[in-house]
Amino acid sequence: MLAAGLGTRMRSRRPKILHDLCGRPMLAYVLDAARAATGTTPLVVYSPHTAALCEAFAGQAEFALQDEPRGTGDAVRAALVALPAEVSEVAVLSGDTPLLQASTVTAVLEARRAAEAAVAITTVRLDDPTGYGRVVRDGPQVARIVEEKDASEDERAVDEVNAGLYAFDAAWLRRAIGGLAPSEATGELYLTALVEIARRDGRAVAAHEHDDELELGGINDRVQLATAEAELRWQLIERHMLAGVTMTDPLSVYLDATVELAEDVTLEADVVLRGATRVGRDSVIRSGSQLVDSVVGEGCLIWASVLESATVEDGAVIGPFAHLRPGAHVGARAEIGNFAEIKQARLGRGTKQHHFSYIGDAEIGADVNIGAGTITANYDGQAKHRTVIGDGAFIGSDTIIRAPVTIGEGAYTGAGSVVTKDVPPGKLAVGVPARIRERTRAAGPPGASAADAAAAATTEADPASDEEPA
Ligand code: UD1
Ligand code: CA
Repeated sequence: MLAAGLGTRMRSRRPKILHDLCGRPMLAYVLDAARAATGTTPLVVYSPHTAALCEAFAGQAEFALQDEPRGTGDAVRAALVALPAEVSEVAVLSGDTPLLQASTVTAVLEARRAAEAAVAITTVRLDDPTGYGRVVRDGPQVARIVEEKDASEDERAVDEVNAGLYAFDAAWLRRAIGGLAPSEATGELYLTALVEIARRDGRAVAAHEHDDELELGGINDRVQLATAEAELRWQLIERHMLAGVTMTDPLSVYLDATVELAEDVTLEADVVLRGATRVGRDSVIRSGSQLVDSVVGEGCLIWASVLESATVEDGAVIGPFAHLRPGAHVGARAEIGNFAEIKQARLGRGTKQHHFSYIGDAEIGADVNIGAGTITANYDGQAKHRTVIGDGAFIGSDTIIRAPVTIGEGAYTGAGSVVTKDVPPGKLAVGVPARIRERTRAAGPPGASAADAAAAATTEADPASDEEPA
């Protein structure tokens, strides 16, 4: 795998082959194709300029250093030094062809074997062959490959080009590679010059003619990068739709290759799913949602919300306009509404946090009602502190919880109270700072007296609705 080139046309400080398509670096796709076709661990040629790839692909490939990018022939020479002696057949791929399919690699390997050729090349016909090496034939035989810079006018008119995917007889390659001479035009060692050398040696040269030019087109600049990503994304989207995902406007959906979607998931228009995101059966992701590295269970509704490294259990409803930050864990059938922010916090089953509120560094039980404007004041300027709220607690509107604080099971807080001390189970906290009172059990919100209800004066959800916040 040749990946030592400078990639100057990307105009980037990042090595070309580490630019992403659908959330994975370009090189990852080509390594997949190489592995699938050969069943071996690919050997990647890198240079000091592209050394970052060794870390990015540690454990997924072997690496050989080309100390300076002196051309594709020199890159293969560097690879051969690192290649075990018993290797009898070598496939050479370019790291910048992310749409390459394993079957195409197999085809060039088979073309070489069938002809017992020293080398097999892959060719494709282009409407505009500018920039590529042209395949010069004598009759049906491939005579040589001539690079654009060295080509005559007649040769430049040839529309059959070298796709940069080769198979070699390894023993012949080891002998012949030393015979490469620097190009007069560029001073580089051209791998493509081996075709002529093979013919001079009296060896056969095979060609696999491929008909998909998009698949073999190398990425040289960011326009080609975007074009290839669009193609890749469409392939992903098609695969998901055929596997049972409904997309109301597939062209507006942005999916990373790493995303997993179950059957009967619905993605509306303008949805972005990234990284290790997984969405379970029957869940609906509505317009304007962005999910990064997040796990959504079955039968959930996510609406115009941002989820980052968050987990949402079955049947929960999120949004519109909620922000689940890393470590947010929302229990089954919970409801998280407008302008709710959650960070490093677990919310239990059936808990409701409907309107503009912040819950951070907290453990919230089941069936808790978090009133509008509730804030866990978790940061004292130096350290973060935890809030714990027990099952069935009822947090009044505009409660400020100055952590660390524990609010017991079934406890209440009054509207506008600032809770600075623990509230025992079943008690009521009211005022600034909040004082603990007994709660009389009568009518009102679950189990509260009319007075308590007035004090709590919160914004409990309408239990009849399972989508809309109250
Ligand atoms: C090369 C071919 C050309 C072919 C085209 C297909 C040669 C001389 N020419 O041209 O016939 O039509 O690919 O896309 O081979 N690389 C190294 N070390 C180097 C130089 C390059 O590892 O010293 C790697 C690059 O990272 C890249 C690959 O080799 O992955 C091809 O290099 P590039 O410079 O893109 O070659 P082209 O000029 O496109
Ligand atoms: Ca290229």
